[in-house]
Amino acid sequence: MQSTPKIEQFIPISEELTKFAYQAFQQSKTVFAVAHNNISSRLTNLVVEGRKGRTTPVSAEVLNKLQKRREKLFEADLQDAVKGVYPANILFDNPWEDFFRYYPEILLDLPEIWEKLQKKEYQKFSSDIDREGYPAYYLQNFHQQTNGYLSDMSANLYDLQVELLFNGAADAMRRRILAPLKQWLSDFAPTSPEQIKLLDLACGTGRTLRFIRATLPKASLFGVDLSPAYLRKANQLLSKIPGELPQLMQANGEELPYLDNYFHALTSVFLFHELPPQARQRVIEESFRVVKPGGIFIICDSMQAIDNPDFKVMMDNFPIIFHEPYYRNYTTDDLVRRLEKAGFENVRTENHLVSKYWIARKPV
Ligand SMILES: C[S@@+](CC[C@H](N)C(=O)[O-])C[C@H]1O[C@@H](n2cnc3c(N)ncnc32)[C@H](O)[C@@H]1O
Repeated sequence: MQSTPKIEQFIPISEELTKFAYQAFQQSKTVFAVAHNNISSRLTNLVVEGRKGRTTPVSAEVLNKLQKRREKLFEADLQDAVKGVYPANILFDNPWEDFFRYYPEILLDLPEIWEKLQKKEYQKFSSDIDREGYPAYYLQNFHQQTNGYLSDMSANLYDLQVELLFNGAADAMRRRILAPLKQWLSDFAPTSPEQIKLLDLACGTGRTLRFIRATLPKASLFGVDLSPAYLRKANQLLSKIPGELPQLMQANGEELPYLDNYFHALTSVFLFHELPPQARQRVIEESFRVVKPGGIFIICDSMQAIDNPDFKVMMDNFPIIFHEPYYRNYTTDDLVRRLEKAGFENVRTENHLVSKYWIARKPV
C-alpha cells in the first residue's frame, strides 16, 4: 500500500512555484522598464538639443555581465525568502495602485524634464513650495524630478521612477540589507525582537521600512527624512500594512533628533550619493552617536568606481543622464574610512547588481 506523502514532500513543489512566479514577475517588470527607458531616452534625445552622443555606449559584454548580476540578485532574493529570512509574499510586493494611477503622470512630466535639461535648470521649484530651512545641497531637482523632493506629486511618482531606473530591480536591491540585519540580530542582539529599535535614515516613501516590518514584525521601527511630502506618502503606504506603524519624523540626517545610544540598528538606502562629502561624514557621525554599542549600521547605495572597472562607463553616464550633482564624488569616496573615522568597526562591504552595501558595528 502506498503511504500518504508527508507535508515536507510538497514543499519543494511550492518552492518551484514561487520561483516560477517570481521569475515571471521580475521578467515582466524588467521588460516594461526597459521598453519605457528606451522610448523615453529616444524621445529625450530627439527633443533636447546636444543630448545625443554625450554618453558612452555600454558594450554588449558589459550588458551581458549586468544580466548575470541581475540573475544572481534575483536568485539571492528568492533564496532568502525560501530560507525564511523574510516572507515570500514580499517578493511580489509592488505598488500596483500607484502604478496604474501615476504611470501616466510620469509620461506627462516628460516635457517639464526636457525643459529642465534644455535650460540646465536644476534648482527650479514652483512658487508654492516652501524651501525654508533645508540645506542648500538638498534644494535640487535630483534626477530632474519636478520640485525635487518637496512636492506630493514627486512623492507619488518616486517609487515608480526608481523601479523604472533600475529596470525593475530596486526593491530586490533594497532587500539585500535584510539578511545581514537578521544575521546580526540572531548573533548579537542583546534583547528580544519586541525590544529592538531600528531607524531607517532617509526613509523616503517607506519602501525599506515596509520590507523591514515584514522581516521583523515585532520591532519598533522609526524613519526620518527631510521631505514632508515623502513622509506623508510613507505614512499613507505604511499605515496599510499590519503591525505597529513606524514612527516617522522630519529631520536632517546630520542632526538626528534622538538620544545617544538609542537604536539597536540603523539602515539607510540610496541616500549617500545624494549628499556632498561633508554631509556624508556628518550623517555617519550622527548615526554612530544614536546607535547603541554593539549595534549595527547598514548602508545601501550605488556601486563605486573601485568595485568593478567594467561598470565605470555606466557610472560615468549616470550623472550625465540624471541630475545627480554629488554622484561623481560619491563614486570615489571611501565610506569604509569615513565609517572607521566615526568609530565604527568590523566594516565589511558587499555588491549586488549595481548596488553596494556597508555593514558596520559600533564597538561594545
Ligand atoms: C534617493 S531617495 C532614497 C529614499 C529611500 N531610502 C529609498 O530607498 O527609496 C533619497 C532620500 O533622502 C532624503 N534626504 C536627502 N538628504 C537628506 C538629509 N540630509 N537628511 C534626511 N533625509 C535626506 C530625501 O528626502 C529622499 O527621500
